[in-house]
Amino acid sequence: MTRNRARQVFDIGIYVVVAATVLQFFLAGLGIFGSAQLFFWHTTVNPFLVGVLPLLLIPVGWYAGVDVRTRWLAAAMFGLVVLQSILLFPYHAAAAEPWREISALHALNAVLIFWVALQLLDRVRHPVAPSVRQDAPS
Ligand code: HEM
Repeated sequence: MTRNRARQVFDIGIYVVVAATVLQFFLAGLGIFGSAQLFFWHTTVNPFLVGVLPLLLIPVGWYAGVDVRTRWLAAAMFGLVVLQSILLFPYHAAAAEPWREISALHALNAVLIFWVALQLLDRVRHPVAPSVRQDAPS
């Protein structure tokens, strides 16, 4: 795979991640207001696109010469999605109040994930000039 092709794969992958992040909010609404069975898409399917795909894109981005901050943002997506699960522990464990309220941070962390996704989108649309980068593979 050429570097240019890798860059295309990375860019398209980030667009998919951003779209999946927006979709993830809708899927939450679908599970809450639609049917509980539809939560499956929010809890089990789409998190792979929101959190695991960015992780897979990191080596592709490295090969393509994507700047290190953008790759860290992709890694942050994974970490924040893992945190989403951790934040729901008190809810799933039916913990007593006030511990259970910690799970409410799931909704707040979702906003942070969306913000990181927008940062990634911005950096894909306006890439850092190659001359500024010092960590490109030679
Ligand atoms: C980018 C945003 C989001 C991501 C990546 C995300 C991710 C996840 C994941 C991975 C789970 C399964 C956790 C587990 O069972 O260990 C989950 C469950 C859940 N999410 Fe989200 N979430 C997001 C946004 C939201 C929003 C905005 C809401 C609305 C309040 C929400 C409500 C829920 C609820 C209620 C569950 C628990 C479903 C259950 O097990 O009964 N999520 N989410």
